[in-house]
Amino acid sequence: MIEIKLALIFGTRPEIIRLSPMIRYLESVKDEKNIEFFLIHTGQHYDYDMDKIFFDELNLPSPKYNLNVGSGSQAEQFSKMGVGIEKILLEESPDASLVYGDTNTTLSGAITSVKLGIPIIHIEAGCRSFDMNMPEEINRVCTDHISRMLFPPDNVSEQNLKKEGICEDKIFGQVNPLIDACNQNSEIAKKKSKILEKLNLKGDYAVMTLHRQENVDNKERLVNLLDTISNLNLKVIFPIHPRTEKMIKRFELEHYLKKFVVIQPLGYIDFLKLIENSKMIFTDSGGVQIEANILGKPCIVTRDTTEWTNEIKGMSFLVSDKKDMILNSIEKINSGTMKRIDYSKYNNNSETIVKACIKEYENGTLKLWKKSMIEGD
Ligand code: UD1
Ligand code: UDP
Repeated sequence: MIEIKLALIFGTRPEIIRLSPMIRYLESVKDEKNIEFFLIHTGQHYDYDMDKIFFDELNLPSPKYNLNVGSGSQAEQFSKMGVGIEKILLEESPDASLVYGDTNTTLSGAITSVKLGIPIIHIEAGCRSFDMNMPEEINRVCTDHISRMLFPPDNVSEQNLKKEGICEDKIFGQVNPLIDACNQNSEIAKKKSKILEKLNLKGDYAVMTLHRQENVDNKERLVNLLDTISNLNLKVIFPIHPRTEKMIKRFELEHYLKKFVVIQPLGYIDFLKLIENSKMIFTDSGGVQIEANILGKPCIVTRDTTEWTNEIKGMSFLVSDKKDMILNSIEKINSGTMKRIDYSKYNNNSETIVKACIKEYENGTLKLWKKSMIEGD
């Protein structure tokens, strides 16, 4: 049996959470399946509660490498990561690099790998908001077009890839490891989390997360959201992202925080318990939109566009920063007319991805893409 060596490159809270079931699966089969893998953490997120807490509570091994790049401008962060990743990939010489989603870490890991001739496996491929003002949209589109194996999470994202002319032979199934992470940990959360007792909550509350650049770096939008949501006559728990905390201080909007129950970012187990018992969720997060739908919780998405368009047919409402749209969606939520999405066909997503990669490697086709691969030499 030949051994495949994979580099898993990640650097932010959502990437750690979403990769956690795959890392645990790889750990459990690495001897039996002849897989070698190692972890490169870019250090894009670095506060304890945006990073290490997830390694501790989700039983993940420490990354072999941590580049500690920290925060900075887009170009600064992206290029520092590239320099660090390149050095490691040259030393380790993996057969493929696996990247997830749409962060600066994702794109830096992808570009650096492909330039060294290392094929890229991209999970959460094909998601599109069709808005190039979002740094994430740039990261997604670029990563998809240089990847060798693309794993779209749903039918819409698979069709997006095909419409962009990406060869079908590069597209592998519909899988979403976030569903593994949410399902595995919401069960644990039910038993273990004491967050409701800690915050003295009885169920009559909402949860809000905000962190998108287009919301929190724009004072007018941020004021619109904070003002509307704080005046809803609802107790709103607000685990605050460090970017949002920084921008609220910079814009001198701290007075709004008194109208929320502001807490530091939570670990995954507590966060899942908090949303599962809430009345509704206000969020601009990608991951939280999916988790809300998995857990059957109404989700008010404070963005103009979303790459999670399937979920809009379920429990999500796209409201931008508009007060009338927020009030309208709350009315719909109170009338209880939402439909739950069935995610039951999405099982063992992380394992499916690993098996598909091994198969491609054993076929000898986990290589940089060439037209002759489909036409034959
Ligand atoms: C990044 C991703 C975004 C993802 C989000 C998840 C990009 C372009 N954006 O956004 O897609 O949804 O992570 O949370 O990659 N900060 C800290 N401590 C930390 C991390 C960040 O204080 O541990 C503060 C710093 O002031 C930093 C700011 O947050 O400048 C933004 O961090 P950054 O990683 O650049 O972007 P996010 O907004 O976190
Ligand atoms: N999350 C968490 N604690 C929090 C807020 C969010 O564990 O206080 C989790 C959430 O359940 C989801 C992920 O973090 O899995 C989403 O991260 P984020 O919103 O930062 O990024 P995005 O999904 O938008 O890229």
